[in-house]
Amino acid sequence: MHDAVRASLPELQAWLPWALGYERSVAHRFVRDSASAWNDGRAFDFAIRLPEEPDFHVGNISIWPTSVPNRIGEVGYWIRSDLTGEGLGTEVTARALEIGFAELGYHKIVLRIAVGNERSDRIAKRLGLTYEGVLRDEVKVGAAWLDHTAWSILEDEWPGIRAQLIEQGVLRSR
Ligand SMILES: CC(C)(COP(=O)(O)OP(=O)(O)OC[C@H]1O[C@@H](n2cnc3c(N)ncnc32)[C@H](O)[C@@H]1OP(=O)(O)O)[C@@H](O)C(=O)NCCC(=O)NCCS
Repeated sequence: MHDAVRASLPELQAWLPWALGYERSVAHRFVRDSASAWNDGRAFDFAIRLPEEPDFHVGNISIWPTSVPNRIGEVGYWIRSDLTGEGLGTEVTARALEIGFAELGYHKIVLRIAVGNERSDRIAKRLGLTYEGVLRDEVKVGAAWLDHTAWSILEDEWPGIRAQLIEQGVLRSR
C-alpha cells in the first residue's frame, strides 16, 4: 500500500489531506487503525487487488457508517495512478455499494467528491447516484479549503441500478 501511495502522490495530494506528508509510519498506522475500526464496525477498509496479481496493491476503498440510527453510510476510494482509466474505480465503487446495501443493510450511501475532481464525479454519475449539492469548505488540503459535492443513492434505487451495472459488465452477479 505504501508503494502504491508513493507512486500516486500528485493525484492523491490534490484531493486527500492524508496524502500530504505521507510516510511509512502513516501506512502502518492506517493498517493498525483499520483492523480495530473493522472489529468495532466503525469502518470497513478494503485493499484493491487484481486476481491475477494478488500481491500488487492497486488502491483502497472504504465504506463506513455516518449515521447508525438512519442507516446511512459513505464510500471513499483511490486507485494507483498508473492503473487509472481502466474502469477499476467504477467497478470497486459499485462493489462497495453492493456491500453497503446487501451486507451492511444501509438505507442511503453517500459519496463526497471535491469540486473539480472530474474523474470521481464520473464514477458517481456512471453508477447512477443523485447529485445533492455543494458542501462548502469541507476539507483542508494543505493551505486550501475545498468544497465537496454530495452524491447519494437510496436502497430502493439500488436493485434497478445494480441490474443495469450487471448488464453492462461493471458488476458481477453473486
Ligand atoms: C478518481 C479515481 C478513483 C478514478 O479511478 P479510475 O480507476 O481511473 O476510475 P475509472 O477507470 O472507473 O474512471 C472513472 C472516470 O474517470 C475517467 N478517467 C480515469 N482516468 C483518467 C485519465 N487518466 N484521463 C482522463 N480520464 C480519466 C474515466 O474515463 C472515467 O470516466 P467515463 O466513465 O466517463 O469514461 C482515481 O483517479 C484516483 O484515485 N484519484 C485520486 C484520488 C481520488 O480522487 N479519490 C476519490 C476521492 S472522492
